[in-house]
Amino acid sequence: MARSAILGSSLAKKYWMALTGLFLVTFLLAHLAGNLQLLDMSPQGQLKFNAYARFMTTFPLVKAVSYLLYFSILFHAFDGILLAVQNRQARPVRYVKENAGANRSWASNNMALLGVLILVFLVIHMKGFWYEMHWGPIGTDADGNKDLYTVVAAAFSQLWYVSLYVVMMAVLALHLLHGFQSAFQSLGLNHPRYTPAIKNVGVFFAVVVPVLFALIPVWMFANR
Ligand code: HEM
Repeated sequence: MARSAILGSSLAKKYWMALTGLFLVTFLLAHLAGNLQLLDMSPQGQLKFNAYARFMTTFPLVKAVSYLLYFSILFHAFDGILLAVQNRQARPVRYVKENAGANRSWASNNMALLGVLILVFLVIHMKGFWYEMHWGPIGTDADGNKDLYTVVAAAFSQLWYVSLYVVMMAVLALHLLHGFQSAFQSLGLNHPRYTPAIKNVGVFFAVVVPVLFALIPVWMFANR
């Protein structure tokens, strides 16, 4: 009985991990689309980015989704750590029997470590930009909007900050490489016809999205 209770809770955790993970994936796409505006470093581009940032921090519907986002990040991280601990406790018996590690990628065996690194990155990232936008001593631009562009440009004028972002986007890529297709499996969305396509979309997403994110600090540093 105790065994089935543990299994049940572990399955439930995987289910919620998958749902929150796919929501975070959707956020990443929207966040990337918004931040790619930073590649236009002209004075008009800067004003446009600041107007966009104001919309994202004041429009009620976006604000409501933001709260769901903060909750999902914390839930996904907390649940993931619990799941890793649970798997580790179950490992001695299972691994000897099935040699389960044999066919698994490095990323799939280290999802919790990659996740914790992303969480640390998020603390640094949100302190640098999100906290500054909401509570920092931030100036205003010619349109009267908070000048978030200048905050971002100042951060990405430092080589160590740019390097940190590039390294962390590689970490994100590894996490997504396993996480994307694993989410569909956890939700039971397996089909001989669609699973290979989901895997391909997952690999494409895991490579292209972090590369485009990494391009932003590199571009801003190179054109500072
Ligand atoms: C070069 C890449 C990135 C840039 C330039 C960037 C830029 C920004 C900026 C300017 C903000 C503050 C805007 C606001 O307060 O609404 C922000 C917030 C945020 N970023 Fe990023 N970001 C990048 C990558 C990432 C990545 C990879 C993640 C997740 C792994 C992430 C997660 C977040 C979150 C959760 C917030 C708070 C969003 C909210 O309050 O709704 N960002 N980012």
